[in-house]
Amino acid sequence: MNVFPQLVVFVGVVCFCPPSCHGGKPPHIIFVVADDLGWNDVGWRNPDILTPNLDRYARKGVILNDSYVQPVCTPSRNCFMTGFYPFHTGMQHFVILASLPKFVPAKFTFLPQLLKKVGYKTHAIGKWHLGSCNWKYTPTYRGFDTFFGFHNGNQDYYSRMRADDGFNGFDFRLNTSVFHAGDYVYSPTLYGARAEQIIRSHDKDTPLYLYLPFQSVHEPLEVPKRFEDMYAHIQTKDRRVYCGMVSALDEAFGRIAQALEDTGIDDNMLLVFTTDNGGPTYRGANNWPLRGAKATTWQGGTRGSAFVYSKTLLSKTAYINNEMIHAVDWFPTLLELAGLQPEPGIDGVSQLQTIINGAPSNRTEFVYNIDDVTNSSAIRYGDYKLIQGGAGSYNGWYPPPKSGENYSKIVNEDETKAPAYMLFNVKEDPTEHHDLSQTQPEVLQRLKQRLQEWMTSLVPAQNPKPDPKSNPKYYGGNWSPGWC
Ligand SMILES: *[C@@H]1O[C@H](CO)[C@@H](O)[C@H](O)[C@H]1NC(C)=O
Ligand SMILES: *[C@@H]1O[C@H](CO)[C@@H](O)[C@H](O)[C@H]1NC(C)=O
Ligand SMILES: *[C@@H]1O[C@H](CO)[C@@H](O)[C@H](O)[C@H]1NC(C)=O
Ligand SMILES: *[C@@H]1O[C@H](CO)[C@@H](O)[C@H](O)[C@H]1NC(C)=O
Ligand SMILES: *[C@@H]1O[C@H](CO)[C@@H](O)[C@H](O)[C@H]1NC(C)=O
Repeated sequence: MNVFPQLVVFVGVVCFCPPSCHGGKPPHIIFVVADDLGWNDVGWRNPDILTPNLDRYARKGVILNDSYVQPVCTPSRNCFMTGFYPFHTGMQHFVILASLPKFVPAKFTFLPQLLKKVGYKTHAIGKWHLGSCNWKYTPTYRGFDTFFGFHNGNQDYYSRMRADDGFNGFDFRLNTSVFHAGDYVYSPTLYGARAEQIIRSHDKDTPLYLYLPFQSVHEPLEVPKRFEDMYAHIQTKDRRVYCGMVSALDEAFGRIAQALEDTGIDDNMLLVFTTDNGGPTYRGANNWPLRGAKATTWQGGTRGSAFVYSKTLLSKTAYINNEMIHAVDWFPTLLELAGLQPEPGIDGVSQLQTIINGAPSNRTEFVYNIDDVTNSSAIRYGDYKLIQGGAGSYNGWYPPPKSGENYSKIVNEDETKAPAYMLFNVKEDPTEHHDLSQTQPEVLQRLKQRLQEWMTSLVPAQNPKPDPKSNPKYYGGNWSPGWC
């Protein structure tokens, strides 16, 4: 059976033309974010992982093999929404905890606010994590027509409860209202059903921007038994459940993809799939053979699993693309696709030609992060990477557990004090085994200088203390805006 019928029909006849050039309609944009999905946690890279739906779309589309995200959740989402590096918005230090008065400042325009100007209907489903102490930082005030999901960074997959700073509360909304009808439905199933409903009721002549940041596969490690059973041969409980969670995400994705096909929305659509950061190896994830984990600037924390897919808009498909792309690039790339231009001064550059036809990347360097609270930074300059002040806590290489092996035992935090500077050639040494800071002093000097230049534009990190006014007990047991 031919599994790629559309490709056979379209190869050679399709050429991309921005919507503005022939009065065509801006394409639908489906932007799917997986949470805490590791480099080695996808079936197209690791045959032990069962993600048939994601694999099929990745293989029909373009697998992005050199796509970078931030080390943790909030900063990456900040990049997707604003096109600015977190060290330019104050979001560079850690994440937004439920009790912190912390947010992406209101002066930054979010992507859907701009897409709405050219007629897009905009929907967000899933995890927000960009600020919710005041309504003005929440999805329906930042360009989304509708929101279905939770404001904070993690919660129970069934009860939607979250504890922070000793406070416990419920966190789930439809638009701005507390929503209980989905309680105890496993979250990817709930989000898949919501996405399907939006897609099937959408008028396909109106451009759709669907932002779908899944809760999966962030901790807590929870999954229905039938998914865990798919990995019965894995004896380490954390890894077995985590892998099951990845397959549950895949099933929800499959349902959404089917709706996009059935409705014909995929006739004029770009789908982006990306993780928000590398996998937390200390919670069942795996980035092998890359070094490090979530919350580090090692490649394992920042080189993300990602692909793009389109039935009609890409002129080169079904290959692995090795061009350098950063999370901030999606903002201008998607704007260009919609026929818009970003304001000058953002950090992202459009990579539309790179994803459409494999053109060389529109960037040669980027900032992994500059964290002025921990005094640690990392930058990329050509093939070289400078790490100043250490990359974070998990500094090792963590292979997937062998049968019967205790995974938590292999993944120990490495407390060794990091040298002030480390230098790697990540093209020749993608697993960061060889620190060149002693042997290539001129390169080291050049990158130190470049880091100094970046630092001149640093916006101090927001690093507030927890605020007792956030306590859900003041809001009927719900985590709620209204206290900053
Ligand atoms: C993807 O990246 C890895 C790690 O840098 C590299 O070894 C591999 O060759 C790349 N894949 C392809 C098909 O280029
Ligand atoms: C959410 O907001 C959208 C846009 O205003 C509206 O169409 C929809 O009915 C709202 N849903 C609910 C349940 O309030
Ligand atoms: C590179 O990025 C800039 C800024 O986003 C954009 O104006 C330009 O068109 C891009 N070039 C290519 C080849 O995509
Ligand atoms: C695995 O190792 C961790 C850390 O050493 C330990 O706490 C845990 O009890 C071990 N689990 C099993 C099943 O041996
Ligand atoms: C930050 O780290 C660098 C290199 O590790 C060091 O030279 C500098 O003194 C540190 N600055 C502060 C404020 O700690």
